[in-house]
Amino acid sequence: ADARIGLIGLGTMGAALASNIAEKGFDIAVFNRTTQVTRDFAAEAGDLGPRITPAETLEDLVAAIARPRAIILMVPAGDPVDQQIAALTPLLDDDDLIIDCGNANFHDTDRRVAEGFGPFMGVGVSGGEEGARHGPSIMAGGTPELWARVEDVMLAIAAKHEGDPCAALMGPGGAGHFVKMVHNGIEYADMQMIAEVYGILRDGHGLDADEIGDVFDAWNRGPLQSYLIEISGKVAHARDVATRKPLLSQIVDAAGQKGTGRWTAIESQHRLAPVPAIEAAVVARNLSARLEERARGQEVFGPAPQRFDTLDRETLERGLIAGKVLCYAQGFAMLSAATRDFGWDLPMARIAQIWREGCIIRSTMLDAMASALDGEPGVNLMFTDHFAAILRDTHDALRQVVAQAALHGHPTPALSSGLAYFDAMRTARGTADMIQAQRDFFGLHGFVHVNGKADQHGPWAKAAAT
Ligand code: 6PG
Repeated sequence: ADARIGLIGLGTMGAALASNIAEKGFDIAVFNRTTQVTRDFAAEAGDLGPRITPAETLEDLVAAIARPRAIILMVPAGDPVDQQIAALTPLLDDDDLIIDCGNANFHDTDRRVAEGFGPFMGVGVSGGEEGARHGPSIMAGGTPELWARVEDVMLAIAAKHEGDPCAALMGPGGAGHFVKMVHNGIEYADMQMIAEVYGILRDGHGLDADEIGDVFDAWNRGPLQSYLIEISGKVAHARDVATRKPLLSQIVDAAGQKGTGRWTAIESQHRLAPVPAIEAAVVARNLSARLEERARGQEVFGPAPQRFDTLDRETLERGLIAGKVLCYAQGFAMLSAATRDFGWDLPMARIAQIWREGCIIRSTMLDAMASALDGEPGVNLMFTDHFAAILRDTHDALRQVVAQAALHGHPTPALSSGLAYFDAMRTARGTADMIQAQRDFFGLHGFVHVNGKADQHGPWAKAAAT
């Protein structure tokens, strides 16, 4: 019984994480429900073999780990986590720690902590298989005492930004999974904005896939430098193995999703924290799946996207810069709302720092975001000096992109909603006076008068009363 840590679930992410842990010098005991998977993992461990103890039963797994134990769960989110916890807890000592490193819904994590079956942490891990294997970004939830028990392992396996590990404690209970959820929401919006620009380059400018790849490659050397722009370039250059055609042209344009973006959109509504670019991205994925209806729509109304050349590439790039800043601003504002609503103290600047490497939304911009949030953690990023300057400089480009796209039949839901958010957020006197008057008219809901008096009513109130 001398393994430093245990891990259950040797799927793609679990296997990669286990190898990462072993490689960093920690002895690890591993278990998978299908025993052959465990055997194969151990057999293929190569140099890491001596650090890995394959267990064929949960009892063997538990017996192989040093006390007090720490066991990582890497099983699919939802019921499988509860089932695994139920199977595991009877075998554990009171102070043994279970760490759920899957993409759990933070409400489930909160519930599991409240159930009090024993020490429990919910930890968000980002970076896909590559990240899990060589350095993910790690957003931990739990008490400082529990974090202290596994911090050495987590810091060792995490991605490093100039030596600084991209792993930190976010707060208690579901805080880690909440931050991971918002990370994924930003991921959805960022991906959608890139896809919208890709559509303009392809159908508006008539570029072929390689030319589009070149555009993304070039942008990846500028302010947009990020993992998602980088892989978009690589994706555009890729060829289908069978047909040798550009791979993109061979992929059905219906986006999948496992739910984290949807959770972000739903939770943002509960927090009254507007994240319209993220919502638009979720809606766009849902719409993309309606293949038959879209084909019918094209027959009924004619195809939407037209060729046009009234938008140069620099304007597109600058518009995307504005869009990207706004989607991160919305995500960070949602994190601020959670700090307020849940009594957390989410480390805003630190979150930007641990997103600089390892995770899917890593980008050069995060460095400046960390600095901007450092002094003023609760402020909307769009108001910080650095990003206000960028938005002043680029919002007209975003406006051009959205306007030209609309005029030529290109749907740009995420970019458009980013722009609408920007404009709404700089309109001191908006139009909700009309909403309030309407509400009062039909339901006597009352409004606040500009003279400061609350619970005021329009002249219709008297008529209703008599
Ligand atoms: C990450 C990713 C990862 C996964 C998402 C994809 O941070 O490593 O976000 O968690 O790729 O689950 O989500 P969808 O399947 O919903 O696109």
